[in-house]
Amino acid sequence: MVRYLTGFQPTGSLHLGNYFGALRPAIELQDKGEAFYFIADYHALNTVRDPAVLREHVREVAIDALACGLDPAKACFFRQSGVPAVTELAWVLSNVTPMGLLERSHSYKDKLSHGVAPSHALFAYPVLMAADILLYDSDVVPVGKDQKQHLEITRDIATKFNDSYGNVFKLPEPSIREEVATILGLDGQKMSKSYGNAIELFLAEAALRKKVMSIVTDSTPVEAPKDPAQSAIVSLYRLFAPADKVAAMESDFRAGGVGYGEFKKRLFAVIWESFAPMRQRRSELQTDPGYVDRVLAEGALRASTIAQQTIARVRRAVGITS
Ligand code: ADP
Ligand code: TRP
Repeated sequence: MVRYLTGFQPTGSLHLGNYFGALRPAIELQDKGEAFYFIADYHALNTVRDPAVLREHVREVAIDALACGLDPAKACFFRQSGVPAVTELAWVLSNVTPMGLLERSHSYKDKLSHGVAPSHALFAYPVLMAADILLYDSDVVPVGKDQKQHLEITRDIATKFNDSYGNVFKLPEPSIREEVATILGLDGQKMSKSYGNAIELFLAEAALRKKVMSIVTDSTPVEAPKDPAQSAIVSLYRLFAPADKVAAMESDFRAGGVGYGEFKKRLFAVIWESFAPMRQRRSELQTDPGYVDRVLAEGALRASTIAQQTIARVRRAVGITS
């Protein structure tokens, strides 16, 4: 059975880009193999300094994922820190990780250019990520395009380790979701939390309506024809509406006589309706605060049994135990 592993950053409430780009594909895979999904809270310490915020973000991501269909009976769902052995592995791996490998990291440079402080942990981010992946003998790591280099670094580190100490690690295969289109945000650019253009999954009705109505449009008058290919409204609508409704919206765009406000109303309606079952599930989850903690604790226990075997193998290989 193929073992899939991926990590979710606890960035707070998920948005439509995260859902279609990362969460939904992961949920689909829980039926196709053995899935290990964790919330990367050690990694989040790179940027989150407020303990209350970290706790809140971890909880939000966990609830959002469970509400959207991540099924703990199928996937092992845990927090990264629930298996602290990962930090031990990261330390051991650090020793076979050349500085140059990390110095070439795009994501490190990118984070610095966005004003993140250049700490040692930020620099070592890919080593901890390699430890996440190697600790669980993962076969396939489904990630977005932005994580491609991290997977290459993981394979390099595993190869270096195996070259020194024998065949301890399985080399993981990345599965890069090239096919998932970039979800557009309110301003027509890539939807991202950091661009302030995101539509969160679980907004209240009035807040969601307001967001959708704030999608940026040009000043084409109501009566004039409009280009559906250029519109973030159509692009988002396509994610939710059945083909005939999408075709109807496209032809109304081309025909003219319908204003952007009307199209936005149709988009709001379909988003609101599509997430109704998830919203229902989410409010049920919120009535039982202990449930999420139990799921994550059970997940950590399951994950630990595998981690303990790997870490024992690593300790023996490097000479820490005999
Ligand atoms: P953000 O840009 O909001 O900070 P992240 O970088 O934390 O989002 O995204 C986590 C994952 O969600 C990414 O690796 C990617 O797979 C997916 N994702 C985020 N935004 C989008 C988007 N606009 N379109 C498609 N996928 C996205
Ligand atoms: N770096 C990933 C991201 O930003 C999250 C992550 C941490 C991860 N550890 C991982 C993803 C291990 C896959 C495997 O989205």
